[in-house]
Amino acid sequence: MWTPPDIPVTRTIRRLAVLTSGGDAPGMNAAVRAITRTAGSRGIEVLAAERGFSGLVHGQLQPLSMGSVGSILQRGGTILKTDRCEAFLDPEVRARTADDLRAQGVDGVVVIGGDGSLTGAHHLARESGLSVVGLPGTIDNDIVGTEDSIGFDTAVNTALEAIDRIRDTAHSHDRLFLVEVMGRSSGFIALSVGIAGGAEAILLPDQAITGDALMTRIAGTRTREKASSLVVVAEGTDPSYTTRLAAELGALGHPARACILGHVQRGGNPSGHDRVLASVLGASAVDHIQGGHSDIMLGIRDGAIATTPLERVGRERKVLPEAWLELARTLAR
Ligand code: F6P
Repeated sequence: MWTPPDIPVTRTIRRLAVLTSGGDAPGMNAAVRAITRTAGSRGIEVLAAERGFSGLVHGQLQPLSMGSVGSILQRGGTILKTDRCEAFLDPEVRARTADDLRAQGVDGVVVIGGDGSLTGAHHLARESGLSVVGLPGTIDNDIVGTEDSIGFDTAVNTALEAIDRIRDTAHSHDRLFLVEVMGRSSGFIALSVGIAGGAEAILLPDQAITGDALMTRIAGTRTREKASSLVVVAEGTDPSYTTRLAAELGALGHPARACILGHVQRGGNPSGHDRVLASVLGASAVDHIQGGHSDIMLGIRDGAIATTPLERVGRERKVLPEAWLELARTLAR
């Protein structure tokens, strides 16, 4: 159980705006539902901005009622739609947007998204004086200040389902498979999927190795005769790395198949874990805004809801836990 902090109400809030931004992540809808119903139960109106910050910029705000968020808890994607909004990088656009929000009686904004979106939220909070609270919504789980992000658990499970199937084929044909997973420049999905899927090797971003080196690594960890192998490759800055590595392995006499999971990892019904996480964080976002907090992201640390200044989110990089890297090396045999 993630314990929400008890926050006394110090501010009267009339209206909140909520938006989802950046890549969609399973559980975003559950967060929108929790915000709407928590706020609604306290007499606070909620307006949904369509397509992320674009909706705020263009005044595309729709009221959300308690009933309108029914039956969205279990749906992947985001019913609010999402976008990566270039216009919001402009301080003048942000200032106009904040004026428009205030004119409509909006006192607070909840932004659900990844590090880029939360950086936008930080600028809005700092420049406008509106109460802005961010929630980590990304399958990548690469956001500093939180051990978990909405959508990560579902994406890991989706990738694992594929990996378990690929393992059957790898085993049946004595084949080597390279399975590329998402995660942008971070390796959290790859590391989790690699450990949970029993990968013989995990290639993290910025750890591109040659075909020869990979075969040496796999052979070096083997403690028994095995003809098939499954290697998890984190997508990194080079989009063709996995296919090139498979071709190189083939040329070295180790035929390999490359399988790029891609966007299948991003959609789908959120897991129970992500639904609960999104619900708890969504409700707590309303508590924090009513408690006078702003310019913070809510996340999970040591089993409890914890806050992180939004300013840190865009500036700092979350690092992979050394103990997990060691665990992955120990278990790959
Ligand atoms: O940030 C989520 C994510 O799915 C990353 O894992 C991936 O690199 C990126 O978005 C893909 O973005 P797009 O859907 O815009 O191609």
